[in-house]
Amino acid sequence: MRAYLIERPGEDAQPVLTEVPTPPCGPDDVLVEVHHASINWADTQQRRGVYPSMPQPPFIPGLDCAGAVAEFGENVKDLNKGDLVAAISPTDTGAFAEFACFPRNFIMPLLPAMSTAQGAALLTPGLTAYHLLFSIHRLEPGEFVLVHAISGGVGLYATQLAVDWGAKVIGTTYSPAKIATAQEYGAHDVIDRNQQEFGAAVLEITGGRGVDVVIDSLGGKTLWRNFEVVNDYANVISIGEAEDWPQGEVRLLRDKLYEHNASFTCFELLRTRPGSKRWNQGVAHIWERVADGRLRVPIGQVFPFERAKEMYETLEGRSVIGKLLLQMKQAEQTDNGDDK
Ligand SMILES: NC(=O)c1ccc[n+]([C@@H]2O[C@H](COP(=O)([O-])OP(=O)(O)OC[C@H]3O[C@@H](n4cnc5c(N)ncnc54)[C@H](OP(=O)(O)O)[C@@H]3O)[C@@H](O)[C@H]2O)c1
Repeated sequence: MRAYLIERPGEDAQPVLTEVPTPPCGPDDVLVEVHHASINWADTQQRRGVYPSMPQPPFIPGLDCAGAVAEFGENVKDLNKGDLVAAISPTDTGAFAEFACFPRNFIMPLLPAMSTAQGAALLTPGLTAYHLLFSIHRLEPGEFVLVHAISGGVGLYATQLAVDWGAKVIGTTYSPAKIATAQEYGAHDVIDRNQQEFGAAVLEITGGRGVDVVIDSLGGKTLWRNFEVVNDYANVISIGEAEDWPQGEVRLLRDKLYEHNASFTCFELLRTRPGSKRWNQGVAHIWERVADGRLRVPIGQVFPFERAKEMYETLEGRSVIGKLLLQMKQAEQTDNGDDK
């Protein structure tokens, strides 16, 4: 089969399309014929070799995909060949390939109303957004949510899920062209960080009250500043470090949390354990809302399989709004559409 390989991660590393053996399917595994895969910020970090949990090189990149069940092991009793499913990769399996093999727990059957493009674009960012709002925080209607990098994958899902729950979302971005999209997806206010200091802006928007939950994917100097703009009992949740590795001192953090009985959590999606009750609640919450139209799947661009390098460059160039997909098969050959 054809698959991309990252041979030696580093600043100049590129995904190279290569011929490799189709992965063997063990007794608890499912082999998926990949129709669509999507790129996450984590893929760009893996390419550069700076992701906290790196696969052993050379590796096939790609965390999220959707396609048809091609084969399954003897212990898998609830799937049939041809079923359309979405799949999320454990660290040692990649989805930028014609076929990918996953443990059954990492496979989620699509609802009939869902396309493989939607399935691939939903998993990591959609489930992350869900668990931040409803597993780590217990979002309540009327609360304020602060979402950094609001027009990215996690950002637009978090915005929609929070607004659907009756909360108000304040977003930030360094890319003014993305503001209108965040507003269209329901953001109450979007702060252009080139123009405004976000802490002062958040306090102004909330009338000095501060926000109840912060979703911080930037780290760097941003992470520390969040503690200045929280309401009592707030959650500051760190999920990434697109800006830089966080700075500051633990003692100071402790004192900041005391000021508001606030909490600080670091979140990693796969640690919610695929297949667990909590994991399945997240999948059901999201699938249901996509199927009934409450959760839109923001697909920015679809690249043919041969153009993965361009897909990486587009995400790293920060011009993208929503999700970027890699398409392995033409939609009309495969399932119910590509980018509904
Ligand atoms: N912990 C987890 O389980 C988990 C799961 C999913 C995602 N994440 C994290 O969540 C974040 C969003 O992931 P995603 O895949 O949905 O990506 P994304 O939001 O679609 O893209 C990353 C965004 O980060 C901002 N950015 C990029 N470089 C930056 C820089 N040098 N300084 C400041 N901002 C920068 C850009 O937004 P603007 O142009 O709007 O500023 C960019 O669009 C990433 O940090 C990712 O690692 C974590």
